[in-house]
Amino acid sequence: MNILVTGGAGFIGSNFIRHILVKYPDYKIINLDKLTYAGNLDNLRDIEHIYGLSEKRYGFVRGDICDAAVVNEVVGRKPDAIVHFAAESHVDRSITNSQEFLQTNILGTRVLLEAGRQYNIGKFVQIGTDEVYGSVEDGYSKEEDVLEPNSPYSVSKVAADLLARAYWITFGTPVVITRSSNNFGPYQYPEKLIPLFILNLIEGKKAPLYGDGMNVRDWLNVSDNCEAIDLVLHHGKIGEIYNIGGDNERTNLDVTRTILDYLNFDENFIEYIKDRPGHDRRYALDSSKIKQLGWEPKQRFEEAIKDTIEWYRNNEWWWKRIKDGEYRKYYEKQYPVG
Ligand code: NAD
Ligand code: TYD
Repeated sequence: MNILVTGGAGFIGSNFIRHILVKYPDYKIINLDKLTYAGNLDNLRDIEHIYGLSEKRYGFVRGDICDAAVVNEVVGRKPDAIVHFAAESHVDRSITNSQEFLQTNILGTRVLLEAGRQYNIGKFVQIGTDEVYGSVEDGYSKEEDVLEPNSPYSVSKVAADLLARAYWITFGTPVVITRSSNNFGPYQYPEKLIPLFILNLIEGKKAPLYGDGMNVRDWLNVSDNCEAIDLVLHHGKIGEIYNIGGDNERTNLDVTRTILDYLNFDENFIEYIKDRPGHDRRYALDSSKIKQLGWEPKQRFEEAIKDTIEWYRNNEWWWKRIKDGEYRKYYEKQYPVG
């Protein structure tokens, strides 16, 4: 199978590319990524050497999914499937400025769907999020629940999901949508809770916890998400939506305490700060539909968070190059825009 992955230089996309290339020795991947601040080819350094240079099963194109010329060029190479991760992904940034969120997440998705339609793509996997359901005080969101997005980010993700669905209904584009909970693991840009807190503590700084720290998220190890997306890519029913939850509901305070404990810091290293505006209290997914396809999350939070902390401890080269901006300088030179 030939797969076009968008946003493959980001956190989940890079883990997914590694997962696919290792698991399926005859698959090829093209990674289309704009290399925004969150796109980092260091995430794929190992992959580029083995599968790109030696085996020629991996190729990278720097490009914007909003640019129809670039998108048509790569989709015109006739991949069998598109797995669409590319997005602006950080809620706090969408609160400061939503422009890029609406541009990339909605209009960029439209450009991709349109190319998929024109070139008769075999499958289009739209990567969505549990945030589309909004804050869920009790119970668990099911795929058919009402969507109540509360941040500019989640609004843009709702629009992308619904546009993908409309392409299926209107044009028969073979779309499948996944909606996962909060991912964690290696190569996550250190603006998200878990890598931010780990790296702050490693550097002797405090962990900035919003509000009372009692907001609840369901944590999914990125390797479990990659397996779920793999399953949906191969066996997901066209036109369906699949929730992917980790069955690891924790308050932010619990998560923070787990990281503090493991790194031997006390609670003086928590800094309670002003809450995020419109901060959703709880996300929780009912994942029974994808479980019926044969998927289960394998990673328990308490073990996986230790592995994750160890990964950041052992890969200082990776996060130091983000913190000093070196990763950008290098890739801007290697892949200049235009
Ligand atoms: P990320 O921010 O780490 O990576 C996003 C990638 O998309 C980057 O490589 C970036 O350069 C690229 N990109 C951004 N705009 C682009 C554009 N216009 N054209 C081409 N490439 C562009 O994000 P992530 O955490 O890996 O999330 C991937 C997807 O999964 C997103 O669609 C996100 O909404 C969704 N998701 C993420 C989580 C999570 O916990 N991280 C949970 C549920 C769903
Ligand atoms: P985040 O990683 O930004 O993911 P999302 O908002 O998409 O769920 O945040 C996870 C939770 O952690 C969320 O409830 C906000 C909270 N949080 C903090 O308390 N402090 C921080 O510095 C960050 C980035 C997040």
